[in-house]
Amino acid sequence: MNVALQYLQLFLLIPFLHHASSNSIPIFNAIYSFGSSYEDTGNMAILAPTASGFRNVLNPPYGKTFFNRPTGRASDGRLVIDRIAVLCGLPFIPPSMAQGQDFSKGANFAVFASTALDRNFFQQNNITNIFLTQNTSLSVQIEWFENQKASICNTTCVEYFTKSLFAIGKFGDNDYLYMLSGGKTIEFINSTVPLVVEIIRSAAERLLKQGVLHLVVAGIRPNGCIPVVLTYFPSANRSDYDSLGCLKVYNNIGIYHNTLLSSAVKQLRVEFPLARISFSEYYKPIIDFVSNPSKYGFTSGTQLRACCGTGEPYNYNLLASCGQAGVPACPNPSTFINWDGIHLTDAAYDIIADGWFKGPYADPPILVL
Ligand SMILES: *[C@@H]1O[C@H](CO)[C@@H](O)[C@H](O)[C@H]1NC(C)=O
Ligand SMILES: *[C@@H]1O[C@H](CO)[C@@H](O)[C@H](O)[C@H]1NC(C)=O
Ligand SMILES: *[C@@H]1O[C@H](CO)[C@@H](O)[C@H](O)[C@H]1NC(C)=O
Ligand SMILES: *[C@@H]1O[C@H](CO)[C@@H](O)[C@H](O)[C@H]1NC(C)=O
Ligand SMILES: *[C@@H]1O[C@H](CO)[C@@H](O)[C@H](O)[C@H]1NC(C)=O
Repeated sequence: MNVALQYLQLFLLIPFLHHASSNSIPIFNAIYSFGSSYEDTGNMAILAPTASGFRNVLNPPYGKTFFNRPTGRASDGRLVIDRIAVLCGLPFIPPSMAQGQDFSKGANFAVFASTALDRNFFQQNNITNIFLTQNTSLSVQIEWFENQKASICNTTCVEYFTKSLFAIGKFGDNDYLYMLSGGKTIEFINSTVPLVVEIIRSAAERLLKQGVLHLVVAGIRPNGCIPVVLTYFPSANRSDYDSLGCLKVYNNIGIYHNTLLSSAVKQLRVEFPLARISFSEYYKPIIDFVSNPSKYGFTSGTQLRACCGTGEPYNYNLLASCGQAGVPACPNPSTFINWDGIHLTDAAYDIIADGWFKGPYADPPILVL
């Protein structure tokens, strides 16, 4: 085909493309999101920018792939919630703590390091952790949302929220990791799983009782495949690792949590028959990526390593981690699953967001909510 004809085709296509994009009216009015560092798009940067354990996120190379600057997101680029907003035809959702923002298209209440359990649980169990300084647990985030409601929709909230998407992000990983680093046994951690899941279930119920009709509830990740856990909780016994090189015991906690949570979601569907509730996964996609990295565009051999960091064999070291002076990042983060030893890359979050939106990583996918 000659060049002129190609141009002609392009020009003929443009009106259609325009039509398609102006036609793609948002699927939802707004998105309201809750979560921790996998979902935080800037709240911790406002709330406690100098907190130890967080302040490195405000240094380069965080944000280098997409925003070209650190934004408070713990990644080289966008998070799942950013991608979901765009797929739904909405702008990025502003962090709820941002001043002077318009929250009519949504607000993101997620805060880095947040837990499902309230702080007093950790205090009562003698679990201290540098990340447990903020009062930002799931129920606190829901309370923030309830306080902000009046300013968003006032008397029309019921109608407004029936057309909005609500997303309870990944809660539980931080709870279990703080217990682990606080010296608690696996048996203790495992015994708290039903309690953690019940907190997430009751938070979902609290939203559904306010008329929410479209809700996403996310499960937790396979902690046994995450560089920070592999580095600081290794085992001398090879049989503690699975065929992927992940630590079985921590993945089993994840499977247990996700199984209970997905049953809780099923119960909620019975309790709220008009609502559409999606159970969304971080566990399955991460296992898929680690099992078959090249299928997803990740470099084989790096699947358990952080892109940005130092230290062998997982490229993770708490004392010289991503965002600290002189700590390098891999040249092409899109070939890595893991960004900084804990959080994922823009590329990995992209595939997960797509899987939540269209399948296969959500039941049912957001598109059919
Ligand atoms: C709490 O933890 C500290 C440090 O691990 C330990 O010294 C102390 O005995 C613990 N106290 C209780 C009540 O378990
Ligand atoms: C945590 O924040 C919530 C919501 O703002 C508030 O109701 C609660 O009293 C706070 N708790 C503590 C221990 O500060
Ligand atoms: C909420 O609605 C009431 C009654 O219509 C009105 O007086 C008030 O100004 C509204 N508040 C906001 C924040 O829109
Ligand atoms: C956790 O508890 C559940 C239920 O009692 C049990 O089936 C599972 O094997 C336990 N997992 C671990 C890792 O201890
Ligand atoms: C390693 O773990 C397996 C399974 O738990 C156990 O049977 C075996 O005795 C352990 N080996 C060593 C050297 O501790």
